[in-house]
Amino acid sequence: MSNNSVDAIQRIRAIAEPASVEFLPFMRPDIDARDIDEVVAVLRSGWITSGSKVKQLEEKFVQQVGCEHAIAVSSATAGLHLVLHAMGIGPGDEVITPSLTWVSTVNLIHLSGATPVFVDVDRHTLMVTAEQIEPAITSRTKLIIPVHYAGAPLDQDSIRSVASRYSVPIVDDAAHALGTYYQGAHVGSRGTAIFSLQAIKNVTTAEGGVICTDDSHLAKRLRRLRFHGLGADAFDRKTNSRLPNAEVVEPGFKCNLPDMNACLALGQLDRLASSNARRAAIAQQYSQAFMSLDAILPLDRPVYTHEHAWHLFMVRVDTDRLSIGRDALMLQLKEQGIGTGLHFRAVHQHAFYKALPLTGAAKLENTNWNSDRLVTLPLFPGMSDADVDRVIVAVKTTVSRFAI
Ligand SMILES: Cc1ncc(COP(=O)(O)O)c(C=O)c1O
Repeated sequence: MSNNSVDAIQRIRAIAEPASVEFLPFMRPDIDARDIDEVVAVLRSGWITSGSKVKQLEEKFVQQVGCEHAIAVSSATAGLHLVLHAMGIGPGDEVITPSLTWVSTVNLIHLSGATPVFVDVDRHTLMVTAEQIEPAITSRTKLIIPVHYAGAPLDQDSIRSVASRYSVPIVDDAAHALGTYYQGAHVGSRGTAIFSLQAIKNVTTAEGGVICTDDSHLAKRLRRLRFHGLGADAFDRKTNSRLPNAEVVEPGFKCNLPDMNACLALGQLDRLASSNARRAAIAQQYSQAFMSLDAILPLDRPVYTHEHAWHLFMVRVDTDRLSIGRDALMLQLKEQGIGTGLHFRAVHQHAFYKALPLTGAAKLENTNWNSDRLVTLPLFPGMSDADVDRVIVAVKTTVSRFAI
């Protein structure tokens, strides 16, 4: 084909297709040039797996969260795996958790041989409450794993008080809660909590997680369990290499976080307050804009004193007021160049779990209602005001087209 005909085809295409607007994803990580320089420096350093950058990350977590010990791992899922193992959770045990959570929690409980016991969530904050947890506690309950949802904190005082009355430990799923404060204290400053540093989180190492705990004995075990069960950290900071004669103290796993990942989060942690403030400003614009839309229901803010990390901005599609459901709304937004997410489809509705006899699954009215209606809108610090307006206009246009 001649150059002239190629030009002609391109001209026709340009007339036929509207000017393309860049697709707006529902999240984009907040990585700047200095973060990239950090990674390059680690790559050039000759030591790219766990070492001094992991140590720095853990120290920054101790500062940020106010916890006693921070143990970096390859994901929050890996962190929970280690914690379940360290706590000896296994066959015959019951672990209470919501079904409206990420699948990894329930997978790990199931794989440990224990029984997940599902409790319903508050219809408008999506978090479990002490009132929902208490009736699910039995003599076999060994652990409660509640979720701080979307960047808001759980009502920790009431949940802790129920758990301590029955002497059941809690491990907080704080995957969404970096920068989340409950009654003035950062989530994870007490007890044991697991944060995620996965790619869409407020601070990311691409994949990664941090366990925060005030239990020194648990911390020591988690440090060795994350690296084959070898004593100490198996990393000699003087020679910048592995301790040659480290011995297996107990059989462990392999879920240490490499330095080339850990270093990515150092600058992001320094910027966390300002990036979460930008998230809050965007959330405020959305909340304001959607107040006039009956068919779009944002989550409720908890009534107790808190600081929201605005990890996710989620709304529910009121299918009594809109002729299309959540999935169709997501498609409509996609056609308008707007990305969305779904956090989460209830775990008991996934193929594998549907086929199992599940404890508590028959009484999950609020979970089911939300699981069918939830959608996550774009929210990340790099969004411009024009991006936010684009989302608002796309949602409003779709709602006005399909309003009942
Ligand atoms: C509520 C919740 N818990 C746990 C996890 C697991 O985190 P990771 O991907 O770091 O294993 C996630 C991840 O998205 C999550 O959203």
